[in-house]
Amino acid sequence: MTLPPVIAIDGPTASGKGTVASLVADKLGFHYLDSGALYRLVALASETQGINVKNAPELGVLAEKLTISFEKGRIFLDGEDVSEAIRTEAIGLRASALATYPEVRRALAGLQHSFRNAPGLVADGRDMASVIFPDAILKVFLTATTQARAERRYKQLIAKGISVKLADLLQDLQERDARDSSRGVAPLLIAEGAQVLETSDLSIDQAVKTVLDWYQSKAA
Ligand code: DC
Repeated sequence: MTLPPVIAIDGPTASGKGTVASLVADKLGFHYLDSGALYRLVALASETQGINVKNAPELGVLAEKLTISFEKGRIFLDGEDVSEAIRTEAIGLRASALATYPEVRRALAGLQHSFRNAPGLVADGRDMASVIFPDAILKVFLTATTQARAERRYKQLIAKGISVKLADLLQDLQERDARDSSRGVAPLLIAEGAQVLETSDLSIDQAVKTVLDWYQSKAA
């Protein structure tokens, strides 16, 4: 039995991979997995339950038994809509810290595989192409300069009425990039066979079109 095709889109934080991946999924009628949201859910749940971010075994147990659901673009944890709560910078940093533990990564692997359903899946994250879906038909490493990414995040936060300093965002991004890229388990890297998409000077539409073109030529 052949498994449904997967398009893996990996890249650093605020690269726009989530926006591009979900639009590609819409265009193709594929399912969409935002794997970063799973790490963010563990971060939020562990904070709520007062679990120390250094307690890897307990975080692993928590990740095993998360009660989550995705409905119409909204994310629920234990029945509560946490779509906005998981998007803060603090939760992002906590997610990046606990994502370094093999206990947590192992616990979330099965959940990620369960998203692979017909007619196909677009999955975004850090290790989609290298670890979770190594047989992905198309592997994309989507990136942009640190400055471009910080500016994008800045605009998003300001639009939401959240006041931030660009310099602080730049520093957060650099800290998170360094940790996500240097960790021992499943680091952020350009997987073998991945095609690099530099989006600093591309519009969202251009980036989406490029991924769709690459997919069509792989699927042909
Ligand atoms: O993509 P994001 O910013 O929502 O991800 C939050 C953190 O989760 C990121 O800093 C590292 C971690 N993560 C990971 O380790 N592996 C993934 N596949 C996705 C996210």
